[in-house]
Amino acid sequence: MRSHYCGELNASNISQEITLCGWVHRRRDHGGVIFLDIRDREGITQVVFDPDRAESFAIADSVRNEFVVKMTGLVRARPEGTVNPNMNTGEIEVLGTELEILNSAQTPPFQLDENQTVGEDVRLKNRFIDLRRPEIQQKMRFRSKVTSVLRNYLDDNGFLDIETPILTRATPEGARDYLVPSRTQQGSFFALPQSPQLFKQLLMVSGFDRYYQIAKCFRDEDLRADRQPEFTQVDIETSFMSEEQIMGMTENMIVELFKELMDVDLGTFPRMPYSEAMETYGSDKPDLRIPLTIVSVSDLMKDVDFKVFSGPATDPKGRVAALKVPGGNSLTRKQIDEYTKFVGIYGAKGLAYIKVNDKTKLEDGDDCGLQSPIVKFLPVAVREAIVARLDAQDGDLIFFGADSAKVVNEALGALRCKLGEDMDLYTCKWAPLWVVDFPMFEETSDGGITAIHHPFTAPSCSPEDLKANPLTALSQAYDMVLNGTELGGGSIRIHQSSMQETVFELLNISKEEQEEKFGFLLDALKFGAPPHGGLAFGLDRLVMLMTGSQSIRDVIAFPKTQSATCLLTQAPGAVSEKQLKELNIRVRKPVTE
Ligand code: AMO
Ligand code: AMP
Repeated sequence: MRSHYCGELNASNISQEITLCGWVHRRRDHGGVIFLDIRDREGITQVVFDPDRAESFAIADSVRNEFVVKMTGLVRARPEGTVNPNMNTGEIEVLGTELEILNSAQTPPFQLDENQTVGEDVRLKNRFIDLRRPEIQQKMRFRSKVTSVLRNYLDDNGFLDIETPILTRATPEGARDYLVPSRTQQGSFFALPQSPQLFKQLLMVSGFDRYYQIAKCFRDEDLRADRQPEFTQVDIETSFMSEEQIMGMTENMIVELFKELMDVDLGTFPRMPYSEAMETYGSDKPDLRIPLTIVSVSDLMKDVDFKVFSGPATDPKGRVAALKVPGGNSLTRKQIDEYTKFVGIYGAKGLAYIKVNDKTKLEDGDDCGLQSPIVKFLPVAVREAIVARLDAQDGDLIFFGADSAKVVNEALGALRCKLGEDMDLYTCKWAPLWVVDFPMFEETSDGGITAIHHPFTAPSCSPEDLKANPLTALSQAYDMVLNGTELGGGSIRIHQSSMQETVFELLNISKEEQEEKFGFLLDALKFGAPPHGGLAFGLDRLVMLMTGSQSIRDVIAFPKTQSATCLLTQAPGAVSEKQLKELNIRVRKPVTE
């Protein structure tokens, strides 16, 4: 129907007769002439209708925002003084000769106008309109380019795109499963995949050597800005490649992606052991754009007369740590109270601080150079040691956390990021890294152990050593982190059934349960499984970061809300009695708190 897209017209089209199809973005009546801004996915063109052509003028007069129209006209240069340098098509306009209304539209529930601030719930409920906004259209197009570049890279490197089932068995990645009842096997359920993990490993056993898939994954977990119940992975698995080779190849893929689409050079990614990430940044996904670091001071606090500090300092699972904020002396009492409240979210019971006014005066007394509610508990030697260890200067502020190492790391780790954002401490725009040498397991609150990555990750030691020291054993897992977000993670897998059985045993999975849930994997590992490994990137998170979006919802066409519902389709919804009967399911009264 069209000869051109609206957004592609420019001065080279002047004097051509063209036909456009699109939506009426805006209609202005300028005393006798009517201007219609016509929009399609490529952009907006200004079309002028004058009363000389009565028929098209009358139609132009009758259209309203979001009507769908087809128009024919002559491209001409805009009169001097009316050129719009902010528009791609700002040098030209079209003199309309014919106008046809292809469909009318009711007044939209909100105007597309960027500055219009409507609640996200209204936008999600009317997502088909929200998706017309040029800003979101740009993001969706960008996402399509990202998958195209990634596919090309993987195709060029010999990867095969193979689909794996959606109706399947549980694939443990640490979240709850979404279940689908079976009609043919009443009382049995499929689980939607949390990832294609087991199938991609089986593909390696089958000899496909290099696999990838842009795969939908489903996880019923607590949602945040960077988590959706249904999300997309760029899922990769390879055989006969070392940890080093897999990291190298996928790092190169991300480097090329940023180069090609954004002309950004990410450079070579540094590697950081998990232990250092936790110790220094309080996080396994450190945001290295922020120069603040967490410094242990447990050894200095063992004997101080302040139980809040000496307790965790002498507890093997405790930690006392400090975070220096250069120039932080200017923080007000109110701001410090707000940060204290903030760390409370992570379980911290307080947030001690010292303001360094004059580091040459560390003695007791009225003119002590340190200003702090806790300085009275700290002997002069400890004050000196703190100032020296943190290289604190006059004008700095030092925050302290004292609790279990877990609480201190989470609280100070989050505070570090919050301060970075609030005080705009970023030293660069992009800070990628690999976090490596993860432990195999961590302790659960009930005293058991759980896999840090997933139970198919290979340890860096023998089965005997793993059994002897499960909590200190390291794994061959690696995470790619960008600006404090975990972009992707993977590992070398266990490819011998005896090692896999050892890991299952350590995780307290009985022989019967192993057989029932993972029998097919254990069998596959006995029939010639090659050494293999891979990783998966979160596509939504990748696009969120690349487009500077606040939430992954902004880069997903039809996202779910924080409570895992779809406002557009009203899913999840009730089903008919007939359907329930077929499934032999009776719904209990919902539990109300
Ligand atoms: P993992 O669980 O680390 O590993 O997931 C890989 C990547 O997927 C993204 N991601 C999510 N994105 C949006 N919403 C979510 N709920 C969500 N959960 C995860 C993250 C994460 O880094 N099978 C393994 C990979 C492997 O070992 O090869 C796996 O799924 O960006
Ligand atoms: P209090 O003894 O409760 O008056 O606390 C004295 C100071 O120590 C206050 O600034 C508290 O915020 C801080 N504080 C209390 N508990 C902790 C903790 N677990 N870690 C760090 N600081 C704390």
